[in-house]
Amino acid sequence: MTDTLSNPLDASNADPFEVAALAAADIARLSGVEKHDIALTLGSGWGKAADLIGETGATIPATEVAGFSKPALEGHVGTLRSIRTPDGANVLVIGARTHYYEGHGVRRVVHSVRTAAAAGAKIMVLTNGAGGVRETWSPGQPVLISDHLNLTADSPLEGATFVDLTDLYSQRLRDIARTIEPSLDEGVYTQFRGPHYETPAEVQMARRLGGDIVGMSTALEAIAAREAGMEVLGLSLITNLAAGIQKTPLSHGEVIEAGKAAEPVISALLARIVEAL
Ligand code: HPA
Repeated sequence: MTDTLSNPLDASNADPFEVAALAAADIARLSGVEKHDIALTLGSGWGKAADLIGETGATIPATEVAGFSKPALEGHVGTLRSIRTPDGANVLVIGARTHYYEGHGVRRVVHSVRTAAAAGAKIMVLTNGAGGVRETWSPGQPVLISDHLNLTADSPLEGATFVDLTDLYSQRLRDIARTIEPSLDEGVYTQFRGPHYETPAEVQMARRLGGDIVGMSTALEAIAAREAGMEVLGLSLITNLAAGIQKTPLSHGEVIEAGKAAEPVISALLARIVEAL
């Protein structure tokens, strides 16, 4: 059992990769699956994909796995699931995301990604619910992430760790996703610290910097995934148009509702993409 007070990642001499190896061992023991091939982090609106990609062999409460925090929010299910696809691939579905805005530090934010890598995953699929900066997009629309702007002023990399991020959101994986849904648009994800939504001026700043999507997750996770040698596929559900683009105020309730409404369609899409990976 891991709680806020005794998370091994918070020990002063903790090695985050050792904790990830312990977590992977917990998952192997509790699922009976030695090695997972693909990992998925399911954000707002994407949760039902887990039911569609194959047969669930084990559902593990995140609190049983070393280093995982309790979920901060309703709608972020705190479990890990081991699923076997019809093709025989083992997929680790992470329904327990720690957000940067929770204030537990970036090690906790990227622990699930490092655990997925330690569990053997070569592909990391990161999904989220986010705001759309482009007026042509509509709430309920899924978009591929093509690149990111990390505006958190933080990094999961510690020390002199120089990692290339040129093809961070793998072109190969985006191409595979488009064989399933050719109409998928793509854009640059901009991670803000949150938990407040952006001001309209910040949304305009993101737009001028080349951002198309605004959100509070994913960029830091993607960096850690690449550090761990994984190939990354990123997908955002546009739950709302970003502040000032949308003329009405933003609310968390609206974001959750948009996620729920889009969930059947985008979850089925994600399941088909995973099948093609
Ligand atoms: N901004 C940041 N995060 C979000 C948004 C948004 O507009 N919508 C859903 N998550």
